[in-house]
Amino acid sequence: MTNKILELKDVTKSYGNFQALKGIDLDLNPGEILGFIGPNGAGKTTTIRIILGLIKCEGICKVFGLDAWKDSVEIHKKLSYLPGDVNLWPNLTGGEVIDFFLSLSKERDRSYKNQLIKKFDLDPSKKCKTYSKGNRQKVALISALSSEVDLYIFDEPTSGLDPLMESLFQEEVRKLKDKGKTILLSSHILSEVERLCDSINIIKDGKIIEKGELKEMRHLSMSNITLSTKDPVEGLENLAFVRDYAFVNGYVNFKIENEKIGDLLTFLNTHEIQFFESRQASLEELFMSHYEREKHNV
Ligand SMILES: Nc1ncnc2c1ncn2[C@@H]1O[C@H](COP(=O)(O)OP(=O)(O)O)[C@@H](O)[C@H]1O
Ligand SMILES: [Mg+2]
Repeated sequence: MTNKILELKDVTKSYGNFQALKGIDLDLNPGEILGFIGPNGAGKTTTIRIILGLIKCEGICKVFGLDAWKDSVEIHKKLSYLPGDVNLWPNLTGGEVIDFFLSLSKERDRSYKNQLIKKFDLDPSKKCKTYSKGNRQKVALISALSSEVDLYIFDEPTSGLDPLMESLFQEEVRKLKDKGKTILLSSHILSEVERLCDSINIIKDGKIIEKGELKEMRHLSMSNITLSTKDPVEGLENLAFVRDYAFVNGYVNFKIENEKIGDLLTFLNTHEIQFFESRQASLEELFMSHYEREKHNV
């Protein structure tokens, strides 16, 4: 008997001749939040659908120690799921859809559902076909968050949500964590989930290429800086923490690990800054920067 919530060993999946998953190992312990990160097309949704018993795989996929494919009915009593592509019944209202999903699992309590509807500012009386993508996402989110289960699986939960809604969602995830729930959170944006997760698995081209605790992955958390100063800054390009330095149209551009931003600001202290922008690097940029450097051993 294992007490792991999720246990995937050498899971492979092919669609015709195309191998979407090439041997995935993944573990999730009770009470943990795991970030499942990878660019579009990496295999996140495929892995999640295998965990849900919606598609069959080669290899071992256990949920609560049970077989994901054979025991899916039993497993689904204890999990809640937010799909990556939210499709709702066009002629039901948002409220009816939420109630339907809740009838499939144990409801946290009715007042909590109503709190969430208020919090996410959803009008539950409208037919689903009239909802925007963001509102459809809210219906699915409220359904998933209103269930009282042990395992919550969110596939790209904040796609289509504005930053305010995104932070409300993050607050809800933290509450679940405080209650000791276990959570799998998939995203193609590292910065979106890194504040929430205990550990992170990075998937690319159907393979897990990095896994570990977040503090070990800080090297993958970088920002793009663009700045201009009144007088030229001497020596910036020679600083150890400045990467991919370029000077374009009077603006300095470079990448920097997030934990070095304080050092940068100290360095810039004596300069008159006219423009400063910091943008989280996308996963693609991180991969390029990190793996190019590894290849050249710098
Ligand atoms: N039903 C399907 N038939 C054929 N190819 C698929 C199917 N579903 C996904 N794929 C392919 O498998 C790969 C992984 O897809 P997916 O798991 O949806 O990635 P992600 O969720 O990380 O964006 C992609 O190349 C995608 O085109
Ligand atoms: Mg997906």
